[in-house]
Amino acid sequence: MSAQLSPIDAAKSIAAKFAVQFVEDGMRVGLGTGSTSAWMIRYLGERIKDDGLDIVCVPSSQRTAELAEGAGIRLSRLDDVKWLDVTIDGADEYDGELTLIKGGGGALLQEKIIATASDRMIVIADHSKEVGHLGAAPLPIEVVPFGLQTTRAMVEAVLEGMDVLGWEAAVRRVDGSPFTTDAGNHILDLHLNRIGDPRRLALALNQVPGVVENGLFIDICDVVVAGHGDGRVEVT
Ligand code: 5RP
Repeated sequence: MSAQLSPIDAAKSIAAKFAVQFVEDGMRVGLGTGSTSAWMIRYLGERIKDDGLDIVCVPSSQRTAELAEGAGIRLSRLDDVKWLDVTIDGADEYDGELTLIKGGGGALLQEKIIATASDRMIVIADHSKEVGHLGAAPLPIEVVPFGLQTTRAMVEAVLEGMDVLGWEAAVRRVDGSPFTTDAGNHILDLHLNRIGDPRRLALALNQVPGVVENGLFIDICDVVVAGHGDGRVEVT
């Protein structure tokens, strides 16, 4: 690890380095998206090169596919491998029940598909992502482009009946245009401040026509590997 890393980057890097030890020869591995996952991809590539680790991986995004190819990782499609032994991915927040908010990088749909199709999901994060209550980070939801503003209004109406402290659904934009996911959809970032009942919220959001998936990962994550800037790692 480089001495110039910020404490947050050092924490992400150490969590990723620790988690790749869970990967064994012959495994089918789901690769997450984001800056912590980028470290994991780098360390997996090193294990392939240095230890001769023989694995096949399914990327959760185009960005991750490009990074993995650069790291010398053999890739496949989920439909070809059908099931995964483990997925390793980052998170925007996690609580004591290992419920997550994901999708800060806009890859929540494919991330949720591969994590759900895995025997195990391991989350890697810097320890500051741990929260008592989810919701300080925006909750992303993926929505189809058709009727974007109408869907946004319907989502806000749903939020008003939920145990949350904020009700704003903002279209994620890049250079003034709606951000487009790998699946060709858009993202609404829900500013909720505190989510009282994640399970009820997740079910209600997915009932809105136009919503493809939400960024709450409930009963999906098995292990969180949290890194600290001083090199300590906690496994929950
Ligand atoms: C991408 C994600 C990321 O895992 C999440 O945003 C965490 O990112 P980072 O590792 O950069 O902090 O869900 O859709």
